[in-house]
Amino acid sequence: MPLSDRIDLDQVPPSFRPFAEAILRQDDPAPGLIRLLGTLGEKAPGGEARDFALLLRRTLPQSARLDRVSEVYIRDKYPLWYIRAINDRHRNTAYRQALQALVTPDTLVVEAGAGSGLFAMLAARAGASHVYACENDPHVAAIARANIENNGLTGRITLYECRYQDLRVGEHLPRRADLLLHEFVNPQFLVPRMASMFKRFRAELLTPAARILPHRFATTGMLVGDEWLLDSIRVPALVEGLDVSGINLFASAGITLAGPVPIEQPLSAARTLAEFDLLSEEDPSHGSRTVEFEATADGYAVGILQWVRHDFPDGSTYENRPELACNWWPAFWPFPHPVPLAVGDTLAVRVENTDTELFIDLDAPSDG
Ligand SMILES: C[S@@+](CC[C@H](N)C(=O)[O-])C[C@H]1O[C@@H](n2cnc3c(N)ncnc32)[C@H](O)[C@@H]1O
Repeated sequence: MPLSDRIDLDQVPPSFRPFAEAILRQDDPAPGLIRLLGTLGEKAPGGEARDFALLLRRTLPQSARLDRVSEVYIRDKYPLWYIRAINDRHRNTAYRQALQALVTPDTLVVEAGAGSGLFAMLAARAGASHVYACENDPHVAAIARANIENNGLTGRITLYECRYQDLRVGEHLPRRADLLLHEFVNPQFLVPRMASMFKRFRAELLTPAARILPHRFATTGMLVGDEWLLDSIRVPALVEGLDVSGINLFASAGITLAGPVPIEQPLSAARTLAEFDLLSEEDPSHGSRTVEFEATADGYAVGILQWVRHDFPDGSTYENRPELACNWWPAFWPFPHPVPLAVGDTLAVRVENTDTELFIDLDAPSDG
């Protein structure tokens, strides 16, 4: 089918439309459309360049040139973790095993935030009576819908393009669900207002005995002495004998690191910093506590390397340990200054959860 038939001009964002219309009359419009994105993209208002980039990726033959010209408009909204998540076999195995263990032919599944649709399809393949999934991003929902169709699972999965906050029994689900699938995480594995979100799921969408996958998070951390971690965050007082510390205006309070993270100076065993039980009636998002680490080697602790374990009700776990190449990256929390430690010394670390963030720092940070 010629491109001019495959590209509906109504789908072309307004700033691109008149030019695209002319280019589509050419014998081979693809190069012209890619050039149009490159020349007009930066000037286009709002998300128009992104929408046009996605339209070209959906309709033009795949090419390295198209990937390169279009990715700059796509990455800000659709970062590569969408790809890496699906390639994370540790994650996939944990969800698949849990679904295989817990789903029966009577299980009605609801998924909040379907992404590619992979988990909804794993639930259907595990034998769920039906899966009701929602995804609020229209581009992602369209991809999930196509994936579900391509795998012949359209009759087993209903995908709503809506926010999970708007899911209602009666309107979207025929009854309360027996199992909730979710993957709401950020690099620190906390979700803004997580407690109220899961309270509502339990109160309005789930049966009293419903399973939540995963049902618990444990954030874990260890003391590290690897100075290269600090180099990723801020410049030292002197570089080549010169003070360029003004650039620390752009410094970061902490970073996530692409795994596997090569830690050469572990200075303690891993310890649980905080746990979040999504089945608990208590608010799991709030709190502040002190965790004591015992030094297992001599050195200067530059901060805490932190990661997360997801627990599933069947005993499966997914943990983005630093030595693994997982999609969700470990986070590094620098101390305000390196702390000298000898084997057996203890160091107190403060772990604080607000409704939206996790903070980790020395218990009594000193400036001196
Ligand atoms: C971590 S991704 C899920 C990835 C998915 N498990 C996969 O394997 O492809 C979370 C998804 O939730 C969606 N999302 C975020 N907030 C949402 C909301 N309020 N309602 C529905 N979906 C939401 C995001 O657009 C994203 O696609």
